[in-house]
Amino acid sequence: MKSKKIHIDYQVAAHRSLLEPADALLFAKAIEAMHNAYAPYSEFSVGAAVALENGAVVIGSNQENIAYPSGLCAERVALFAASSQYPKVPVKALAIAAYHKSDVAQKGAGSVTPCGACRQVMMEYERMLAHPIRILTGAPEGEIIILGNAECLLPLVFFSAELVKGRK
Ligand code: THU
Repeated sequence: MKSKKIHIDYQVAAHRSLLEPADALLFAKAIEAMHNAYAPYSEFSVGAAVALENGAVVIGSNQENIAYPSGLCAERVALFAASSQYPKVPVKALAIAAYHKSDVAQKGAGSVTPCGACRQVMMEYERMLAHPIRILTGAPEGEIIILGNAECLLPLVFFSAELVKGRK
């Protein structure tokens, strides 16, 4: 038996004002998207902005439903919309911003990282389109975590060489 370790490199910016200009712009789009969330049940609004290699930016926000599992996270709304509108165009970066209604006093300072299902979806586009996805995830007025690729967020991701064969 061998022991192995997983090492994850990431950066933290204390506030969006400290991001480099391209990142700050994309994060601002995620905040804009966050305000379009339909989240009457959780009162947790999430926005995502996807920057594509062709220069397009596609946004998405979480969309909930009274039948709870029918809703979808902001990241997947944005990534699926991007892939629908621009199939096979590599994703360069994904910014995610979120806040809970109760956090209004702090203007959304709590930290946020994506759920496991969204991480799996990010990984698929990263591998299929052979381009690392830079990820910025955080709060509108709080800390932002920056990762160089989606794999950093999901080591030991589900993958099957057999299933890849059917992928177009
Ligand atoms: N949510 C997202 O939009 N993205 C995530 O990565 C985690 C959670 C949404 C789903 C649901 O509408 C609300 O946040 C509470 O879970």
